[in-house]
Parts: sequence; structure tokens; C-alpha cells
Amino acid sequence: MKYRELINKMTLEEKASLMSGKDFWQTESIDRLGINNIFLADGPHGIRKQAEAADHLGLNESIPATCFPTAATVANSWNTNLGEEIGEYLGEEAVAQNVNVLLGPGINMKRDPLCGRNFEYFSEDPYHAGKIAASYIKGIQSHGISACVKHFAANNQEERRMTIDTVVDERTLREIYLTAFEIAIKEGKTKTVMSSYNRLNGEYTNENIHLMQEILRDEWGYDGVVVTDWGGSNDRVAGLIAGNELEMPTTAGETDKDIVHAVKEGKISEEVLDVCVDRLLELVFSTEKVFERNPSLTFDIEKHHQKAQQAAEESIVLLKNEENILPLPQGIKVATIGDFAKNPRYQGAGSSIVNPTKLDNTLDVLEQLPIDHIGYEQGFERYGKRNKGMLNKACKLAAEADVVLLYIGLDEATEAEGLDRNSMKIPGNQLELLDAVHQINPNIVAVLSCGAAIEMPWIDKVKGLVHGYLSGQAGAKAVLSVITGEVNPSGKLAESYPFRYVDTPASQHFPGKELSVEYREGLFIGYRYYDTANVNVLFPFGYGLSYTTFAYDDIQVTKDGVTFKITNTGDVAGAEIAQLYVQCQSQEIFRPKKELKGFSKVYLQPNETKEVYIPFDDKTFRYFNVKTNKWEIETADYGIMIGTSSKDIRLEQTISIEGTSAPVPYDKAKLPSYYSGKANHVEQVEFEQLLGRKVPVANWDRSKPLGYNDTIAQCQYAKGMVARFAFHLISFSHRFLQKIGKRDTANLIMMSVYHMPFRGIARMTGGIVNMPMLDGILQMVNGNFFKGLRHFLKERRRMLKSQKETI
Ligand code: BGC
Repeated sequence: MKYRELINKMTLEEKASLMSGKDFWQTESIDRLGINNIFLADGPHGIRKQAEAADHLGLNESIPATCFPTAATVANSWNTNLGEEIGEYLGEEAVAQNVNVLLGPGINMKRDPLCGRNFEYFSEDPYHAGKIAASYIKGIQSHGISACVKHFAANNQEERRMTIDTVVDERTLREIYLTAFEIAIKEGKTKTVMSSYNRLNGEYTNENIHLMQEILRDEWGYDGVVVTDWGGSNDRVAGLIAGNELEMPTTAGETDKDIVHAVKEGKISEEVLDVCVDRLLELVFSTEKVFERNPSLTFDIEKHHQKAQQAAEESIVLLKNEENILPLPQGIKVATIGDFAKNPRYQGAGSSIVNPTKLDNTLDVLEQLPIDHIGYEQGFERYGKRNKGMLNKACKLAAEADVVLLYIGLDEATEAEGLDRNSMKIPGNQLELLDAVHQINPNIVAVLSCGAAIEMPWIDKVKGLVHGYLSGQAGAKAVLSVITGEVNPSGKLAESYPFRYVDTPASQHFPGKELSVEYREGLFIGYRYYDTANVNVLFPFGYGLSYTTFAYDDIQVTKDGVTFKITNTGDVAGAEIAQLYVQCQSQEIFRPKKELKGFSKVYLQPNETKEVYIPFDDKTFRYFNVKTNKWEIETADYGIMIGTSSKDIRLEQTISIEGTSAPVPYDKAKLPSYYSGKANHVEQVEFEQLLGRKVPVANWDRSKPLGYNDTIAQCQYAKGMVARFAFHLISFSHRFLQKIGKRDTANLIMMSVYHMPFRGIARMTGGIVNMPMLDGILQMVNGNFFKGLRHFLKERRRMLKSQKETI
């Protein structure tokens, strides 16, 4: 232990005090030993440091910071150098705001397009997400502070996120849901990991020894700190035993006492606590040095804004360009329609929300461009209400234009933390507008603003489609640079766009039932499913157009890697993202038809050719064998494919690989869906075969009294009349607020109340309600109203008294 001497000077109480927050964002200090508190702040695409009122849902304002494009956007750049640069800029701003730990990046897999936080995550592919995440982490940590990769692990939905049990087989867990974390930890060397809210195969992730000890610490050799997601701690002592050092936010010392008791009672050895303290001290001392070196660092707002613009430019994806409608020729008459042109949709809602230093908007930027901008109409109401007047005005304007720029997408209340989307559609009023404008002027270029895949049954009505995703504070300028050709688009999708939601592999089991979500599709998420099961998609993973064209040739495969050539065969400079996919050609162990194992973004002048080399690594041929419980390599022929997307393979060669001769872990006859890849309708028995056990009960037991880990929503079955009434009041308020168009506030009820487990009342109120008081609340909920109330009041008095004594 690095800090043995210092730890020896601490009392048991002092050690325990370091294991949880001092307030919402800071850790505890021990002044007499020179241990300062450190500050943790969101977030993944810009600093959200709250100077005053604190919350984890992005409700109260934070200090202005650069709002970079969100992770879902930058993922489309496939540019790890850019990721590292963004990380450096984020790190610099964090230092300027005295933030020691930046709570990002978020790297959960996009298992299903409806997950409400997909805009905050990179990819449906673990290799891709891991590589970009590692680059962010290197950039952030180059300043001496810490990144915090989150949410570890298998947290792929928002619905009931604080209680849901993710039921997933070990191989899928390793290959799909943990690989990105493995890369972020081993290559990015993150100093902090955030455990997720959910349970994983029955246990809360931060208490899950298999996840936290066996995999994270023992296999990956991680020696940094694990922090709970805010309010995500269940049993504090179990969390500590699993190696979860820091609980956030504060519980006003309540859980520290749990730790002290556990040590005194011998439930946990003091040595375990010491190891956790040691790791926490390393985080404190290593990250605070930077502030001593740079006591009054500021950052260049304009320079950072420019970087945000460059990041957006590299990440925009051109999805359609019929008749080469883009780039727009100079002098052309352009009409701009759509609310998002005036009020940009540039980031998602929730804890990642950034208060931008400045914000570009399309209309202002248009004035500076060499095109004849003839006017703007809002066209539709942002939150979905029909408005005939707006639509008519938009059509009138469209009739006078050569080209219509139509800004459509999803509003901020639809893509938010704490809630999943309920469909992949964009609002009907926008589609009515598109129909009407199309009848008047077919020269439409749609600009999309949203952070996740949507259905596009309307795609035939637009000639150009520019996907800006959520492009940050400088996104408006970046999109127009692509539209005018100042920038040649080079982004490619980091997620597949199916035609319809029903085509997606997890749709039958998303977001699961009351208690659990079964990942029955196994390995087959995203393109792994569409390609293997031969399901057509609108836009495949890795897809994106350019204003130039590229030719691939001359593939050479060795045991170390693959070399090939790319030539820019068009008239303008551009960048191509070449993707390496690997296909195991043996049929013994089921595998997706192809899997991404490398990529390279290459910048080329017209007629220029470059040789590209993509090395193989420890992940190129491996699979996780559940019999040997190890990564193994199958002896087989492997297709080495170089594609311009997952669907469009340009070069291919086969290589024979000598494997590790591990036994085949499966009985093929019992796993037909997995061997065929058609894993969208897996029956329970087959899933259980894969899982190696029975699936747990998925519905609430309505006969049992409610406990700590039951949710407020379960009050509908409570014995206590008051609890049932409270439930109906909450549900009614939610419906009512939605009806009157206050979707943000309605969402808030869902996020912060409806799905909250009772323990959250104690974990998230910073010591206002403690666990004994919660016992009183539960007695009331369970039908003993007066007894519960008396208990609650008695415990409250006791708490206040003990607080007074401490002061
Ligand atoms: C989110 C985390 C975030 C934390 C602090 C939680 O609700 O899940 O991603 O870092 O709040 O704001």
C-alpha cells in the first residue's frame, strides 16, 4: 500500500469518512492529516460544475463551459486523435473549474435504439466505443485529473434503472457489454470507474464480486477508484467488500457508521477498508497536484468553441445526396424551415447537460454565407402540437426557393436521462410539414438533430439528408460548412438504422419486465444481428457519404495485421473511414457473421493514394469460452474484410489461425437461434440453455410488503391507503403535465420519483431522511400508518439530536 504510513495515523472513523461524499459533489477531507476534498463533476461532453444548488438530473444551472458534441456524435468521426483532443480540452476546462474527477465518458452499449441515454454513449460496437473512450480518457487525464468511465456495467436502459436486474449470459457480458470498459481501463488507464445503478445477474453492480473483483481488479488489474452512481449504493458494506471505494453523494455520515460497525463486528476486516482508503488517497493526491501547479488557470473560450466546431464537422454524417444536391452551389436561393434552425437542438437532457459558453444558430450563420437566403419559417411546434398556420407559411416560403433546408429531429424532452423513448419516430407534425413542403418543392435537404437512431419512412421525400446528431454549441456552423461544401463530410454511423423498430433484435425484451430485463438476443445486437440474420437495414453501421469517392485495393494479410491501399478517386479532398471486420469461418462455436476489430480514418487529396495498416491485437480473434472461463481462440480460417461500412466490404482475404484448442462450450442442437443468428425471438428454454440457469422471476410479488428496493411505483399495490393515494397522485400529475405540454416536468416525475427505490429517499437526500426514518415511511406504506409515523418522528428527533451533539 502506497499510503500505509498515513493510513496508520487515521482512526477507524476517519477512514470510513473518506468512503462517502461530504456533499453532492465533493469527497470528505481530513484536515489534520492534510487530506483535502476533491470535486467530481459531470460530464461527458462538457463540464457541469454546479456552483450553487446541486442535482444529478441537470435541473440547476452550472458554470458556463464548452458544450462539445455528445458522445453519440463524436463516435461518428471514428477519429481517436480527435477524441483525445476533445479530452484535452475537457480536461483543461475541468482544471480551470477546479474539478478533480470528470464524470465521463459514458460507454454503455446501444443495445436498443430506444434507450433514453443513447445520445450520451458512443456505439453499438464495443471495440469502437472502447477505442474512442480510451482516447477521451487519455486526453482528460493528460492534465493530471481523472476521467470516470461509466456506467459499469450492463446499464443499457433508463426504465427502472435503479432496480432492474440485467439477466445476461457470461459470454455476451464479456464480449459485448464489458469489452469497451476493458479497453477504457487497460488502454485509456482511467483512474476512476462509476458503477451503474442496475443489478447484474441478481446483484447490484457495485456489490457484484464477479464484476468488481474477479473481472475488474483481478483480470484487468484495475487499481483505481470505483464510485457509485449518484444514489446507487444499496448495501454500503457489501459495496465496500466488492471494492467500491466511494459512495456519492453524501449520506451525512450514515453509511460511514455502517462501515465502522461492520469492522467492529468483524463483518469486514479493517485491511479491506485500508486498501480502499489507499486507492482513494491516490486519487486525491494525484489529481490535486494539478491545481497547485495551475492555481488560476483559465481557458480560451473562442479556441474551445472552434474545437467544438471542428469536432462537429468531423462527426456529421451525410446519409443521402440524390442528384448531388449537396454541396449547395453559390448564389442559390435557399429557404430555411424548422424550429431547430432557430433554437438548435444540440445536446441531451439530464446529468450531462452543459451551460454553453456561447451557442451558434443556423439563421445567424446563414447570413454570413455566399448563398441567397430568402427567409426562415418555424414550420412546426417543437413539442409536437399541430399548427396549420405555421405549416402554410412554411409552404409559401418553400415555393419561392431553389432548395429548402428543413431542420427536423427530436426535441430535448424526448431524449433524456431517466427515460427511454417510446418509439423511433419523429413527431407527426414534422412529417406533415415535410409532406406539404415536398408537394410544393421537392428539392429538400433535411438536417437531422437527434442523438439516436430513428425510423425514416419519409426518406424518399428528401434529396439530401445531413445528420448532425447532437452537435454541441458550434454545431449550427459545422452543419452549414458541410452543406456549402466548405467541409467535406467524413462521419460514418456508429449505430445501425433499421427500417422499423420491430426489426431490432432486442425489441421483444426491451425494457424488460418489472424486475428484470433478459438479454435474450445475446451477442446479436446492432449489425452483429442484422448481418448474421440477413435483416435489411436502412443505413448500416459504419455508413456515411462523402463529396468524393474512394477506391480500395491491394490487400495483404499477415499474422500481425492487414495492409491495403485507398485512393481518392474524386475531385475534392476528403477522408475515408476504413473498417476491419473479422469473420470466423468455423461453424463450431456460434459467432456474428462479422465483427469490427479495427479502423482507420485516412485523409486524401484528389488522386492521392495511401497505404493503410491496421494491426491485429489481442481482441482480433478471441471469443469468451464459458467452459474454460477464459478468452480463447478457435483454430479456424478467418475472413479478414476491409469495408467502407459493415455492409459494403471492398477487400477480403482469408487467414488460418492456430487457436487454443479449448473445448466447444455449447450443445449446438439446443441453441438454434444463436447458431443461426436469428436471435430476435429466443424462447425462454433456449435462453436458459445459454445462460446455464433458470431465468429469475420477472414480476413484482404483489403480496409482499414493500421494502428498501421496491419502487415508489409499487405503491399502487401497497397496503397503506395513503401510499396508494400518493401513487395515483403521482401518476395523475405525470399524465396531466404531459397533456398540457409540460413534458419536461412530467419527465422529471418519472426520473426522480416514479421509478426511485425507497432506499433512494435516504441515499439522495443528503441526510434529511435516514434509514431508520425510512423504516417508518415503509411501515406507513405497508398499512401501519400511525405506527410508522410515530417511528418516523421518533427517529427524526433522534437524528436531529445527534446532529446537534456533533456540532
Ligand atoms: C447519472 C450519472 C451522473 C450522476 C451525477 C446520475 O444520475 O447516471 O451519469 O454522472 O448522476 O450527476
